[in-house]
Amino acid sequence: MILLPDDFVVTPWEVSGDIDYDRLIERFGTQKIDDELVARLVKHTGEMHTMLRRGIFYSHRDLNLILDDHEKGRGFVMYTGRGPSGHTHLGHLMPWIFTKYLQDRFGVELYFQLTDDEKFLFLPELSLEDTKNFAYENALDIIALGFDKDKTRIFLDTEYAHQMYNIALKVAKKVTFSTAKAVFGFDNSNNIGSIWFTSMQAATAFLPSVLKGENIRCVIPCAIDQDPHFRVARDIAEGIGFYKPALLHCKMLPSLAGSDKMSASLPSTSIFTVDSAGDIKKKIGNAFTGGAVSVDEQRKNGGNPDICSVYQYFYYIFEEDDAKLDDRWAKCRSGEILCGECKGDLTARVTGFVAKHQEKREKARDVVEEFMLRDCQGGDD
Ligand code: TYM
Repeated sequence: MILLPDDFVVTPWEVSGDIDYDRLIERFGTQKIDDELVARLVKHTGEMHTMLRRGIFYSHRDLNLILDDHEKGRGFVMYTGRGPSGHTHLGHLMPWIFTKYLQDRFGVELYFQLTDDEKFLFLPELSLEDTKNFAYENALDIIALGFDKDKTRIFLDTEYAHQMYNIALKVAKKVTFSTAKAVFGFDNSNNIGSIWFTSMQAATAFLPSVLKGENIRCVIPCAIDQDPHFRVARDIAEGIGFYKPALLHCKMLPSLAGSDKMSASLPSTSIFTVDSAGDIKKKIGNAFTGGAVSVDEQRKNGGNPDICSVYQYFYYIFEEDDAKLDDRWAKCRSGEILCGECKGDLTARVTGFVAKHQEKREKARDVVEEFMLRDCQGGDD
């Protein structure tokens, strides 16, 4: 048998092609979130989140150990992050919305890392000042989602460097260059900062244990593209005296072009939280759909919602009601509803959501500092 390479790429820095998510579970060696685990989670949260029901959060590592510790009263913490390369888009919000649901239901602390160092190192066009500015812009979006001020600690790598450097050094000493090359595909042309960077992303998984002075399990909700960093973190965790971080992975919100992920580097096919109503209308108006070549043909043969980016947006975020989603699917297949109508409905939903988000985003400016973790607080400073 000849094994063909997959025709998609998923790494922390590149996501392209038509992603086979089951294949990714095999390739990365993660576990599917099965019905039993969903039931166990929902027993504690008391509510089935749409992203669980639809299998959008679909893969994990060691979630069972997190729930064991919760049940035994030992507690756990959460950690997630953002690489501030630009403004926040709707794709980034997906894992954060789910993280907030978990924080609300479990009442646990969340550590939110803004990797201004990463984006400076990996993107030649961005200065450190740019990535720092975007980090504070992104922090507004995080706060606007409503995370608990008393339980959420946000930091920039460059500003929380004292605490982070001490932990990252311990990680870096255990990760060889050959591991970094094998996991991330680095070669001789990569700058040495980017090779070091994974130790900063791993370090946050251990930060809560360091700050508390005792080991506590940490779970990281994120899209599956970030998993490679945490494979490295898990490999070295016990060797430096910590628990392996647990993971909860979601699928990637596709771009409005219908393939690949929504990406900040393709602004015309991504919707940002700072977009105007006009931008949103234009972007959705130009979105790739599963429509037929003419109205007559679509009325006769129907459209294909399964390849339609507009339908995907309803599926991933903007239609929580399963019956209404199924109805839209069926009406598209039968030719009863045309692309213009779906685009209009989605534009109204997204515009409403973004307008409300922008109001909360503006209010967040007054409280940013209350969320920030500073080197003078906690730990061994
Ligand atoms: P970044 O800024 O690329 O992405 C931030 C978060 O959004 C997820 N994500 C998406 N989710 C759904 N659909 C999409 N189209 C989409 N694009 C991105 C990412 O998986 C991530 O959860 N290096 C990281 C920053 C980071 C981090 C972390 C992320 C530091 N520590 C811990 C997650 C967990 C980065 O550049 O993420």
